[in-house]
Parts: sequence; structure tokens; C-alpha cells
Amino acid sequence: MTNDIKWHHHQVSKEDRQHLNGQKSFVIWLTGLSGSGKSTIANQVEKELFIRGVHTYLLDGDNIRHGLNNNLGFSYQDRHENIRRIAECAKLFVDAGIVTIVAAISPSKADREQAKKLFKREEFVEVYIKCSLEECERRDPKGLYHKARSGEIKNFTGISQAYDEPDNPDLVIDTTNQSVSQSVRELRQLAEDRALKG
Ligand code: PPS
Repeated sequence: MTNDIKWHHHQVSKEDRQHLNGQKSFVIWLTGLSGSGKSTIANQVEKELFIRGVHTYLLDGDNIRHGLNNNLGFSYQDRHENIRRIAECAKLFVDAGIVTIVAAISPSKADREQAKKLFKREEFVEVYIKCSLEECERRDPKGLYHKARSGEIKNFTGISQAYDEPDNPDLVIDTTNQSVSQSVRELRQLAEDRALKG
């Protein structure tokens, strides 16, 4: 970036917006394999927070790839750029005083660490939506594992590209044998407590 671009300090701060919204803002970053339950859990948690009066926004990898990131594929480089842009978006939403839920495979530990660095420690909640590859493949809700096994889809996470498990996530939700409603309850409780605490 050139030296000719200067940062503008705005008169309305993140804290002002949080105060107006009556809540803290932070990002809940859901990482996990395709089919692990990220989008389902995120969607339901957002609805329950919304009903409770929490201002939220959900950034789902699949959806962001329809617009902002529609020029990106699934090479390591493109996934890196995908996560970089999603993280920068999330930062804007957190700055706007909103509880922001990210649901993206985000398979690279290094990319997740980069994302984390954009936020204060208490503003980034890493949640590992854990599910065995076998169970994800059994669910195969979009038929993508089938296509990945047959070679129709290249670079598929867990099959032909790596997924780095988080070392020290703030929360692990293991969906292998757990109901969606139990997973939603765990995450909603954490989010609600953080959003509405003094
Ligand atoms: S990433 O890894 O974070 O950049 O991926 P993300 O933006 O979350 O997009 C993942 C969704 O894209 C579909 N899809 C694939 N996933 C993984 N690998 C390959 N090659 C691939 N091709 C398409 C798939 O629907 C993913 O959605 P989820 O909800 O995770 O199943």
C-alpha cells in the first residue's frame, strides 16, 4: 500500500455503536469440514439471537462465494484470499457493533491465525465444528463427497486437500453424534452471554 493513502479517524466509534445497539460485538468463527454442520448451526443460532434482540450478521462461505468472492475457486491461494476477505468483512461488521457469525471451512490454520490477528483477543471466538470425515461423507448433503471421490471435484477438503484441526479453539462442538438442537443450544448460550454482558 502506498504512503499516499491515509487512515481517516471517524467521530462515531465501535464502542458508540455497541452502546447504541446495547451489546458487545465480536466474531464467532465456525471452522470445520463440509457437511460438519457449520451453516445449519450458524443459521439457527443467528435466528435465536435475533429473536432475543441481538443484532447479528451471518457470513457464510458458500453465500459470499456467490458475490464478493465469486472470482475465487478452491486452490490454496484462492482459499487464502477467500478467508482474508471474509475476515476483513467480519471486521467491518464487528466495527458496526454487530455479532458476526462466520461459517467457512477455513481449512488452513495459518489463514485462521491471520484472520484472528485482525481482532482483539476477546473479539474473536474460534469454534471448531468437529465431525469425523466418515460421518460427513455419510451425510453428504450436497453430493460433493461422492463427486470428490470420483474425481469430478478436485481439491476437496478432507479428500484431496488438507484440513488443519484447530489446536486450541474456544469451543469444540462435536456434531458426529450430537443433535443439531444441542449444538445450537451450546453456541447460542455462549454468544448470548458474550453479547449482552455489561
Ligand atoms: S474455504 O475452504 O473456507 O475457502 O471454503 P468455503 O468458502 O467455506 O466454501 C466451502 C463450500 O464450497 C462448496 N465446495 C467445496 N468445499 C470444499 N472443497 C471444494 N473443493 C469445494 N467445492 C465446492 C461446499 O458446498 C462448501 O460448503 P460447506 O457448507 O462447507 O459444505
